[in-house]
Amino acid sequence: MKLVSAIIKPFKLDEVREALLGLGVTGMTVTEVKGFGRQKGHTEIYRGAEYAIGFLPKIKIEVAVKADVTERAVEAIAKAARTGSIGDGKVFVFDIEHALRIRTGESNDDAI
Ligand SMILES: Nc1ncnc2c1ncn2[C@@H]1O[C@H](COP(=O)(O)OP(=O)(O)O)[C@@H](O)[C@H]1O
Ligand SMILES: [Mg+2]
Repeated sequence: MKLVSAIIKPFKLDEVREALLGLGVTGMTVTEVKGFGRQKGHTEIYRGAEYAIGFLPKIKIEVAVKADVTERAVEAIAKAARTGSIGDGKVFVFDIEHALRIRTGESNDDAI
């Protein structure tokens, strides 16, 4: 099992959600976050220099998937979230040691 965590532009959330649902994903967690990447949140160029360092609003999507779905999930997110402009975001993949569906007691793949 892997946890796919993606930071994306907020207006891309619906497209990314639809893309993941298309893979048969049955759940996900979404958080409103703020962040910056290499451009440090610079959004404007004034007289050749960039100003206004800051955090920009982003959406973090976390989706736990069975291992064999990982690559397709990453690709689906990347395709749906991409605009080609700066700030499109990043995807991080983590190993999941254990998963539990609290209601039923199911574990691991059965809990996803
Ligand atoms: N190294 C990092 N660690 C954690 N979050 C990051 C990192 N780099 C980028 N992010 C998150 O991704 C968002 C978009 O980053 P982005 O501007 O696309 O990255 P970059 O400028 O490095 O190509 C940032 O606002 C931040 O929330
Ligand atoms: Mg950037």
